[in-house]
Amino acid sequence: MRFTDTLPTPSAEALAHSEQLAQRIRAAIEHHGGSISFHDFMQMALYEPGLGYYVAGLRKIGQAGDFITAPEISPLFSQCLANQCAQVLTELGGGDILELGAGSGIMAADMLAHLENIGCLPDHYLILDLSPELRDRQRQTLQQHVPHLLERVEWLDRLPATPLRGVIVGNEVLDAMPVELFTLVDGEKVIRHVTTQDQDFALVAVEGDYTSEFNPALPAWMRSMADTLAAGVLLLIDYGYEHADYYRPERTEGTLLCHYQHRVHANPLIYPGLQDITASVDFTAVANTGLDAGLELAGYTTQAMFLANSGLETLFIQALEANPANQYKLAQQVRTLSLPAEMGERFKVMAFSKGFTPTLDGFRLASRQHYL
Ligand SMILES: C[S@@+](CC[C@H](N)C(=O)[O-])C[C@H]1O[C@@H](n2cnc3c(N)ncnc32)[C@H](O)[C@@H]1O
Repeated sequence: MRFTDTLPTPSAEALAHSEQLAQRIRAAIEHHGGSISFHDFMQMALYEPGLGYYVAGLRKIGQAGDFITAPEISPLFSQCLANQCAQVLTELGGGDILELGAGSGIMAADMLAHLENIGCLPDHYLILDLSPELRDRQRQTLQQHVPHLLERVEWLDRLPATPLRGVIVGNEVLDAMPVELFTLVDGEKVIRHVTTQDQDFALVAVEGDYTSEFNPALPAWMRSMADTLAAGVLLLIDYGYEHADYYRPERTEGTLLCHYQHRVHANPLIYPGLQDITASVDFTAVANTGLDAGLELAGYTTQAMFLANSGLETLFIQALEANPANQYKLAQQVRTLSLPAEMGERFKVMAFSKGFTPTLDGFRLASRQHYL
């Protein structure tokens, strides 16, 4: 039995799409003398123009897609984030929000609706995604939920040339960045490469029993975030660990995971373009590169504690009072977002600030900075 036999079978159209991308990857491998780095493979699998997983027109996020994210689970998540943004915007006397990797647009819609309710709308809500095909879907979501606020939303092709005052926010953006895979050989990192094996892809063999990964783009990306922020806060939410936990000796296979139609597995070399490939985030590296880029570390805690600090309980009660019939659904949403065995502890929230000194509400209790 082949590994792919254990997964749902893609349609003929999806397989043809994947084969087109596979041909492009094979050509790159040939062009580079027989192999490319795993990083370059992942870059092509996720972002190859017109064909990569995140840039081609397949529906990825949500029940009908491959995986589900916190904003898709509950508007309470986005409302908590909006509360944190409101504190920053109020302290700054107004400003903008820039969302990176906005997915279906539901987080933007729920945040804007809540910010309007609490009288704290940003001047502009900017969206930057590497996936241009998501724009239409985001516009539709916003049109459906907050049509009267659409005029405040602006889609960007690149980071704004003029640094902004306000909040930059990214949910599950870092985990979607291509990583370099390495195996330790005599204590040295050997970067792993991908080659072809008949019609399949395979890792070039390396003798070693500890494999993991790192994000080589992080320093430059954090510098670009620091350059984009004139004053305010950068908020990053993602699944990951502190350095010592990420690279602990027992984690011999690293953290790479693939999502295909709600099945999770660890083979990134199959179905290029059809499945998500992700790696957990090394939050110690994020903190260090942020500091190196000139940002202040303004907070680090679990998603559960960030949401609790940001008013989850009050928001839950308000939602319940508004719609008592939703009690079971709302309670289930809170459990999924907060329980340690669900998203509560695996997901962390990290904040950086620039020209902004007040303590952030979302991090008042239960800081994890000492674990970094
Ligand atoms: C896992 S999805 C998360 C989508 C959404 N934030 C959510 O929570 O549902 C990751 C998204 O981040 C985008 N992305 C990856 N790297 C990015 C970057 N450097 N800048 C902006 N968006 C990026 C991808 O194109 C993709 O749409």
